[in-house]
Amino acid sequence: MISNKISNGLNGNPIIPGDKSISHRSIIIPSISNGICEINNYLKSDDVMHTLNAFISMGVKINQTDERIVVNGKGLNSLRNPNKKIYLGNSGTSARLLTGLLCSQNFNTILTGDDSLSSRPMKRISDPLTKMNAKIITNDGKMPLEIKGCELKNSKLDIEIPSAQIKSGIILAALNTTGVTTIVEHNVSRDHTEIMLEAFEADISTEKSNTHKIIKVNGKKELKSKNIYVPSDLSSSAFFIVAALINENSNITLKNININPTRNGILIALQRMGASISFINKRISNNEQVCDIEVKSSKLIGCDLDSDIANLMIDEYPILSIAASFADTPSIFRGLSELRIKESDRLNLIFTNLQKCGVNCKIENNDLYIFPEKMYSVKENKIKTDFDHRIAMSFAIMGSKIGPLIIEDSDSINTSFPTFINEFEKIGGNIS
Ligand code: S3P
Repeated sequence: MISNKISNGLNGNPIIPGDKSISHRSIIIPSISNGICEINNYLKSDDVMHTLNAFISMGVKINQTDERIVVNGKGLNSLRNPNKKIYLGNSGTSARLLTGLLCSQNFNTILTGDDSLSSRPMKRISDPLTKMNAKIITNDGKMPLEIKGCELKNSKLDIEIPSAQIKSGIILAALNTTGVTTIVEHNVSRDHTEIMLEAFEADISTEKSNTHKIIKVNGKKELKSKNIYVPSDLSSSAFFIVAALINENSNITLKNININPTRNGILIALQRMGASISFINKRISNNEQVCDIEVKSSKLIGCDLDSDIANLMIDEYPILSIAASFADTPSIFRGLSELRIKESDRLNLIFTNLQKCGVNCKIENNDLYIFPEKMYSVKENKIKTDFDHRIAMSFAIMGSKIGPLIIEDSDSINTSFPTFINEFEKIGGNIS
């Protein structure tokens, strides 16, 4: 894909697809609940389809149309042996959440993934589950994972790594474990799993303090299904929000966006940078906070973000780095070690590609420094993405300012935002 420079600004109402994290959970949780669940506005992307196909292969009756998915759940112990390996493509969320769910089943499974997923750390999920007696054989801490289903024992587990995937995997394991499993989470992470399980009448309680959150799950209680309307994805919105901010004469409105406070760091950061962003029509939908977001071109200033805010916006640093490249003053983003083990080594790819674009930047101790300038002269216009969807889309937005940029392996955007190119062109983007 080639992303070309634009001259007339971005205008209109691009349609942002359903939230990726909530779409995964919208398939997983109803599949182990009782009753029929109709899911609307789900994200029809490669990652979510891997989760969906996994449950079909485990005998769950799921009907899918372009508009909706209907899951006919038969309870906590209704999953069947897939009798084949479950392939999860690029999806870390599917891998970590399914590992938790599958280790308490009465059958064995093998989870596999593509090259990127197979290089990502899995001990972070297998270690805490092993404390619950789970039997998981890893390939030196990586995929494939061989999971031998068994009765788990309830435990008290501390999660030190900031990760919603680890937390959610453990919660899913605890649902089918006798007694109370206690999870002490030491960093904020997105809480879509807890929110959905409360709505599905799980025996789950949460207690928050300044330093941690305690989640208690009393297992073996059957869940009751409910219909779900998936709000639109803030992480996908972020590409267009930044595109509108950095391109003059832009004014866009994004409808029905999830602004869950455990992952709204990108909005906080951009507002600190002077972004003109308005939140309209705030409401609650399926217990999630939702609103429409209006964005206008803005003069941005740099900002110094500490590592705490990284927990609230871990997926948005690639696109935030593009915003910072067009600010009036430098930015420092601190504590980004988790970025190194995402779909790619994102910290390194942000740095390498910004340098190709002529942006002066450096990494010191996993902190990223960006020193913006008024004009850039592109040094090398081939953007390396290592098949990472968020790197591809972020540098497509960079292309709208300094293009043409050639974005390599851009098919990866089907992982999370298959309609990205159409929607970007609809508001004035120029992709060829
Ligand atoms: C996700 C959690 C985050 C995020 C990922 C989706 C989830 O990963 O980066 O895109 O749906 O739980 P970590 O748990 O590794 O932080």
